[in-house]
Parts: sequence; C-alpha cells; structure tokens
Amino acid sequence: MAEPTIKVADSEEEVAKMLADFVEKHAASVLGSSSDSDFIIGLSGGSLPKFFATGAKNLKLDWDRVKFIFCDERLVPVDDPESTLGVYKEKLSGIICGDNNFVTVDTINLDDVEKAAQDYEEKLKKLRPGQQPPRFDLLLLGMGPDGHTCSLFPGHALLEETGRFVAPISDSPKPPPNRVTLTYPVLNNASAVVFVSTGEGKKDVLERVLKQKDMQLPATRVRPTNGELLWILDKPAASKL
Ligand code: 6PG
Repeated sequence: MAEPTIKVADSEEEVAKMLADFVEKHAASVLGSSSDSDFIIGLSGGSLPKFFATGAKNLKLDWDRVKFIFCDERLVPVDDPESTLGVYKEKLSGIICGDNNFVTVDTINLDDVEKAAQDYEEKLKKLRPGQQPPRFDLLLLGMGPDGHTCSLFPGHALLEETGRFVAPISDSPKPPPNRVTLTYPVLNNASAVVFVSTGEGKKDVLERVLKQKDMQLPATRVRPTNGELLWILDKPAASKL
C-alpha cells in the first residue's frame, strides 16, 4: 500500500507546476512503455481545473493519446457552471485536441443517476477491457474541508461500496445533490493518485488525514495498493503537518 509523498509549494503557480511536472513524467513513462495504449487521466472538480489548466499550457504531451475520465461528475447540463466537464472544456480549449479526449458522464436524463452511473461504468470498462477493476494511469483528486474526495462523503454508505466501479449519489451534501463517482476499488487500483489541496481552510482536515490517518475521512482511505500517492499542498494548507 502506498505511503503518501507530500510536496509543499510556495505559491499557486508552483502548485500548478508541481502538478504538471508529475503528469508529464508519469505520462512519459506510461506512453513510452507501450505504443498502443492511451494515457488515462481522471479529473475532479473544485479548484483542480484551475491548477491543471494552468500547468497544461506548457505540458509536452501527445494529446492524441490522452483520455480524460471524471473521478466524479455532477448531473447537470454541460453548460451549467457546476458541470465539471463544462469547466474543463472551457479551461482546456485551445490546449488539448478536443471533445474526443473526454470520456463523459451522460447528462441527458438529469434525474436518473442510476442509469448515468451504469452507462459511465460501461464506458470505463471499455477503456481497459478485461481489467476488474480497471486500472487507470493517473487520478487527480481534491479534498473538501470535511475530508470528502470525489463524491465520497464522510459517513455515507458509498464508502463501503465494493462491487461497483462507479456509483450514483442523489444526496450529496455538497450541491448539486445528483452525481456519479468512482468508488474505492477503482481509486485504489490506480497506477498513480495525486491530491491537490490548498488554502488555510484545509489545514485541520489535512492534519487529520496525513498526520492522524483518520480512517473516518474519505480522503484517508485513498491508498493505491500498487501505485503512487502524491499530495501537493501549499504552505497555508500544510501548516499543521
Ligand atoms: C466536486 C469534487 C470534489 C472536490 C473537493 C475539493 O465537487 O466536484 O470533485 O471532490 O474535488 O470538494 O474541492 P476544492 O478543490 O475546491 O477544495
């Protein structure tokens, strides 16, 4: 099981640079070791799109071989400001090739979270045929002040999900309520996981996750069994570590 590596940046620019450096290095090693598979990156919402897009401008990556999946997604239309896909499309426009890079959650029927989760799980299985659970190359995660990550919230039954790779949630405490999320079997089977967490508002929860290793908190339970785990923080967030 991976022990976390912690890196502390001096500024938001440095957070973005550390993230971009890791993405570039890991992509080079994955793409260099096989000429026919794609590099699959899982994206999250919150502040991550800002950091990822800032660093993406300078990334030396063969974007034709990159596929973006979503570690969680809110069930809202893509033009809604809450849509994680919508935010990335806007921020990455002109940097990556286009819509073909994204493996998206279907948001046609906004009330049917169960169907959205099933369809998305099928799409993910096709990306890594035969793998149970699928092993993705790099999952980029954030963490809320309550210790949630993806749409896995403290005390929620989904923390115990072991059968499904993607689960629906219709009572998310962080709005909007309807979402789909990856589950621990997939998170902990990744080749690499990077958390980005910044700001003074995260210092207490980071102490609980990284120092006390409080397993009540969803973020603490992300421990890839055969992969790397990196936390990129800024100084205010890391001030109690
Ligand atoms: C979402 C997320 C969520 C997010 C955290 C951290 O709500 O869509 O994917 O898990 O990553 O809430 O958000 P911040 O980066 O804004 O702290």
